Amino acid sequence: ALITLRQLLDHAAEQGYGVPAFNINNMEQGLAILRAAEACDAPVILQASRGARSYAGDIMLRHMVEALAEMFPRNPIVLHQDHGNNDATCLSAIRHGFTSVMMDGSLEEDMKSPASYDYNVEITARVTRAAHAVGASVEGELGVLGSLETGEAAAEDGSGAEGKLDQSQLLTDPDQAVDFVLATQCDALAIACGTSHGAYKFTRAPDGDILSMKTIAAIHEKLPDTHLVMHGSSSVPQHLQDLINQSGGHMPQTYGVPVEEIERGIRMGVRKVNIDTDCRMAMTGQFRKVAMDKPEEFDPRKFMIPAMKELEALCTDRFERFGTAGQA
Ligand code: G3H
Ligand code: 13P
Ligand code: NA
Ligand code: ZN
Repeated sequence: ALITLRQLLDHAAEQGYGVPAFNINNMEQGLAILRAAEACDAPVILQASRGARSYAGDIMLRHMVEALAEMFPRNPIVLHQDHGNNDATCLSAIRHGFTSVMMDGSLEEDMKSPASYDYNVEITARVTRAAHAVGASVEGELGVLGSLETGEAAAEDGSGAEGKLDQSQLLTDPDQAVDFVLATQCDALAIACGTSHGAYKFTRAPDGDILSMKTIAAIHEKLPDTHLVMHGSSSVPQHLQDLINQSGGHMPQTYGVPVEEIERGIRMGVRKVNIDTDCRMAMTGQFRKVAMDKPEEFDPRKFMIPAMKELEALCTDRFERFGTAGQA
């Protein structure tokens, strides 16, 4: 059944686990994620970006997720708007059956330049009032992550996001977080704690101290009832980079957030863990492998089946390691 983000993350907080939020755009991603959730007995967050909504269409997305809920009745599902840029995006998502929205007011409406604190408070408070009036949950964001948020930090040439913003912008201030949540009443808060969006997060293998656990712990201590969200949580697995590169792809060597670091983050209070890049790599790696190994193949299902299996394996691993398995 569809439930709200507040319902799911309240349970996660009580039981001390984290929930992956996987981005979806199509049926095959939805089936793979829910097959993993079913096998693990896990609840899940499916999130759609503005790009996903225009790719699949709001009507298709709604019916697809309702179909998944009917096919997998034992798995609670949250349908969440990822990175909503204004009131209209968030409210139209709710109208189309989303049970939760992210109002990302950390950026101006164009999603390119960092926004003022006052703008962020005002728009997030307004969206939260409207969403709560109809029973939907809201995630806000305070702080500036790399790449997506600067539009420049993470380049496709493999140069990492680190070192291009100053440290104060990269970490959410705990006292400002308290003020923000009081003023907006949001249910969940995305924080800047050292991650960035996309495949090119770090140019060198992380040495085990890449996330600011101090920031996570300080915010969690001050805001125990606000569910913390970690964006940019792909691990960019080496085996998927290798699969892509051995199948005619070209991804310069790069490093993501090690899963152990996310597990530490969950122990410090992170509840929602956003993953898109890893899912893209899983499917694309298998598409490429089939194209390489079987040049005579032209039945799309022969590409989709191994791609879904690879994504299912990735999701299963995250459900198990985040403690989501067994919590449905
Ligand atoms: O954070 C953004 C997500 O990875 C979604 O990406 O806007 O290309 O669908 P997208
Ligand atoms: P990744 O690019 O690390 O998968 O992050 C996705 C994300 O934060 C979506 O909101
Ligand atoms: Na989100
Ligand atoms: Zn994000």
